[in-house]
Amino acid sequence: MIRRAEVQDHPWIVTTGAAAYLDLGDYTRILPSWLEQPGVLAWIDHDLYGRGRGFAMLGFYVEDPGQVAQPVVAGASPASPSAVVIADLLALAVLPAFQQRGLGSKLLHHVIEVTERVAPTSHITTLRLTVSETNTGAQRLYARTGFTVVDDSATYDRGQRALRMARPLATPRR
Ligand SMILES: CC(C)(COP(=O)(O)OP(=O)(O)OC[C@H]1O[C@@H](n2cnc3c(N)ncnc32)[C@H](O)[C@@H]1OP(=O)(O)O)[C@@H](O)C(=O)NCCC(=O)NCCS
Repeated sequence: MIRRAEVQDHPWIVTTGAAAYLDLGDYTRILPSWLEQPGVLAWIDHDLYGRGRGFAMLGFYVEDPGQVAQPVVAGASPASPSAVVIADLLALAVLPAFQQRGLGSKLLHHVIEVTERVAPTSHITTLRLTVSETNTGAQRLYARTGFTVVDDSATYDRGQRALRMARPLATPRR
């Protein structure tokens, strides 16, 4: 079952993310900093007893050519006509003991569904993400869910190479 995360879930998200991302680096600082940004949403998948198994985190950013992207709350209109609003899947993590059971796919589909729902009023056309070049398992999951590589020249702060992937969002029929 998937539910929206509350502020009291943030410590669990940070601990779970740090455990799931252990092989990819130290995420103990970046996860809390994302959770503090305005407009960032998170969802938790939990079992029948309420025990969390994984989470997804989504941020919204205004991008203007030549400017640093700024976090926004979904629904806010960009101030400049050249600016676009981007939905960014910041994190997707399932605890190692629960991986390979379809939970990551379920969380990802949930994020896509919510993003498509708010896309028309938020002027969002694309859902994007960044994944480590070496994380081929996650890349397969994203490719199967409709994401394609849009930039293979990105790097994380610590110098590790990364792929930017994006997926168009379905627009409602008129
Ligand atoms: C990526 C992640 C969220 C997937 O969660 P999950 O619950 O295992 O995913 P699902 O069971 O829904 O889907 C499994 C699919 O994910 C892919 N996959 C992801 N990680 C994998 C791994 N370590 N080994 C093999 N396949 C992997 C495969 O394509 C697999 O598809 P398949 O069943 O056809 O082989 C999970 O592996 C995880 O938390 N990894 C560590 C954190 C991470 O890498 N997050 C994404 C970074 S952007």
